[in-house]
Amino acid sequence: MKVTVIGAAGGIGQALALLLKIQLPVGSILSLYDIAPITPGVIMDLSHIPTTVKIENFSNKDIISALQNSDIVIISAGIARKPGMERSDLLDVNGKIILNLIKHIAYTVPKALIGIITNPINTTVVIAAEMLKKIGVYDKRRLFGISTLDVIRANTFVAELKNKQPNDINVPVIGGHSGITILPLLSHVKNINFTEKEIINLTKRIQNAGNEIVAAKVGNGSATLSMAYAAARFVLSLINGLQGILNIVECAYVEGDGKYTRFFSQPLILGKNGVEKIEPLKLLSIFESQLLYSMLTTLKKDIIQGEEFMLK
Ligand code: 2OP
Repeated sequence: MKVTVIGAAGGIGQALALLLKIQLPVGSILSLYDIAPITPGVIMDLSHIPTTVKIENFSNKDIISALQNSDIVIISAGIARKPGMERSDLLDVNGKIILNLIKHIAYTVPKALIGIITNPINTTVVIAAEMLKKIGVYDKRRLFGISTLDVIRANTFVAELKNKQPNDINVPVIGGHSGITILPLLSHVKNINFTEKEIINLTKRIQNAGNEIVAAKVGNGSATLSMAYAAARFVLSLINGLQGILNIVECAYVEGDGKYTRFFSQPLILGKNGVEKIEPLKLLSIFESQLLYSMLTTLKKDIIQGEEFMLK
């Protein structure tokens, strides 16, 4: 198994690389690419950790070699938010980065599973899809916006509130990955009852959890460590799916059946080709249905921005 991280020397990339160095299956290859001058040092640092995961060093220019034979490519490159910014404020810069990287991926490893972390995910994933389509290699089962961070936050906050083990909690989070487009389905959590007030407060906190971090980091970026943890979990699930393990379910932002919007995050079964099956959504509560319908205009707008990005 070869996993490539693009943006490997950034805040998310470094932590993700560390987690993958210690968690990828025995004998895997971890290919790390970044244009930052610190990259060779980051890689050397990681290479001193005694695991069977072999690190390939491709800092600076050689993105093609970095990508060659990858089964999975994760993109965390780009700029992060500062206080007062929305994820959508990153679009001009990060959208161009995505276009450029996706071109290389499309020509070098058209069959790889691609996971995008770079914000605004609601739009960057669409930009990636349009570029893959233009080049003629788009397979919607293989392109993912990594929204796992919303799920792990929801699990953590519910566990804290209800005094439970976080690993026993599973909150599906649907929609997109920004503000009101993040919809945790608290009514789907097994064996826990919430009051109306708890549902309102938890939903708000999960939707705004990214802002909590941006504010607490006082101008020095957004979530990196929890994002890396979430991405590592998602990569390991992709690998389990590729290896034929059955019933691997994760929420991710993908092009689905278009029931609500062209791209939508929801629980998916992962398999040998990426998305094996989109799980039908169980019945939503009235509160969740209302939030779902009121997010759709925003999510559709984010998607259209992605569809039109290349035309600008
Ligand atoms: C977050 O939700 C970085 O978008 C990421 O914090």
